[in-house]
Amino acid sequence: MGKNAKKRKAAPAAAAGTPVDIGISAADRGAVADGLARLLADTYTLYLTTHGFHWNVTGPMFQTLHSMFMTQYTELWNAIDPIAERIRALGHVAPGSHAQFAALASIGEAPAQPPKALEMVRLLVAGHEAVARTARAVFALADAAGDQPTADLLTQRLDVHEKTAWMLRSLLEE
Ligand SMILES: [Fe+2]
Repeated sequence: MGKNAKKRKAAPAAAAGTPVDIGISAADRGAVADGLARLLADTYTLYLTTHGFHWNVTGPMFQTLHSMFMTQYTELWNAIDPIAERIRALGHVAPGSHAQFAALASIGEAPAQPPKALEMVRLLVAGHEAVARTARAVFALADAAGDQPTADLLTQRLDVHEKTAWMLRSLLEE
């Protein structure tokens, strides 16, 4: 409950300036921008966790995980820019502080003490699944609003997160 109130406060405001008239109502643009702000916060948080795991992973799977995490954090880093810029195209302000990201994210930050390698993998599976759930919820809003570019972006993000979750999950199999 408190977390939700905090979330709303951290959501981006409508940007000041020339009105946006792209055939999507102000209310729908606001709802989609709020959802994209949550996706941005989730993606950024998962990026940071994955990069930290790249630095701190240990054990016999070091080389595999160190380089797999690099591929993943690079992809996540590249993803945050188009999400933020879609929020701007909808006429809203993109969140850009750790305080806002912490308030908006559905996933927690990495533990201060680095976990063992397979626990890192488990945390990343849960992270990618959580980001997929956020993207899927926002897709419903974008679809209802007739916001095709956002729906397209979310479809691409869903594909990446579900595929990455599968790859990570496969490491946990015997
Ligand atoms: Fe590195």
